[in-house]
Amino acid sequence: MKVLIHETQATAVDCVAGLFAERLVKQPDTVLGLATGGTMEAVYARLIALHQAGQMSMAQARSFNLDEYVGLRPDHPCSYWYYMREKLFAHVDMRPENTFLPCGDAADPEAEADRYEAAIVGAGDIGLQLLGLGANGHIGFNEPTSSLASHTRIKTLTHSTRDANARYFDSFDDVPRLAITMGIGTIMRAQEIVLLAFGEGKAEVVAKMIEGPVSAACPASVLQMHRKVTVVIDEAAASKLSLRDYYEAVHPEVRAPK
Ligand code: GLP
Repeated sequence: MKVLIHETQATAVDCVAGLFAERLVKQPDTVLGLATGGTMEAVYARLIALHQAGQMSMAQARSFNLDEYVGLRPDHPCSYWYYMREKLFAHVDMRPENTFLPCGDAADPEAEADRYEAAIVGAGDIGLQLLGLGANGHIGFNEPTSSLASHTRIKTLTHSTRDANARYFDSFDDVPRLAITMGIGTIMRAQEIVLLAFGEGKAEVVAKMIEGPVSAACPASVLQMHRKVTVVIDEAAASKLSLRDYYEAVHPEVRAPK
């Protein structure tokens, strides 16, 4: 696990956008795994800026999002379909037919989850996966105690996750109880993973993810078993790491860019 500790959120965001753009330059037809949440908004804004500056094209890429709420139509303003259109797809040269999310309003959500998993496998699995981090250690919507080998399926959201996402809805009760999410096994098949987290509120879970035991109690800790993960965090999110000095010594260029 490569741990890059940035002085600020802004440079952490630039770093993630830079890794993303670099991969697309190297391999324009990369299969991208995309994430939602507040953390990713700044990354997508940066990617749009790179695209507008002619430094990044997504025209040949395909993308699969991590998750979607069960019961929300793609045009529902709180759906992740809507989020992706607003925050990224409408502003870059991604072809709509190459962007995929689970259909939250599918008549049979379980069948939809199976179909989505098969579509990811059919695309040759994810090349570059972007991840945020839930305060309870979830990745995608894989809540604590999720099987570390799971495939795309329906998950029941915890009270704390619904609470954390209630800010996007009119009320807590409007937050769906179920979501379709890529499984942890699905995510682990990605060739490369970049996880971004910032702020003091994530410090404890960041420490568990990087230095804690690998455990379904903190799903993100499974990333310790992945061959190519880069964790990009700011100082606030790094504040509870025991080996912080070590990570900073390994990557001094992060704090003093050339
Ligand atoms: C949601 C998403 C996750 C995301 C998490 C963190 O629950 N399903 O993919 O990582 O929120 O969100 P935020 O970036 O807003 O803290």
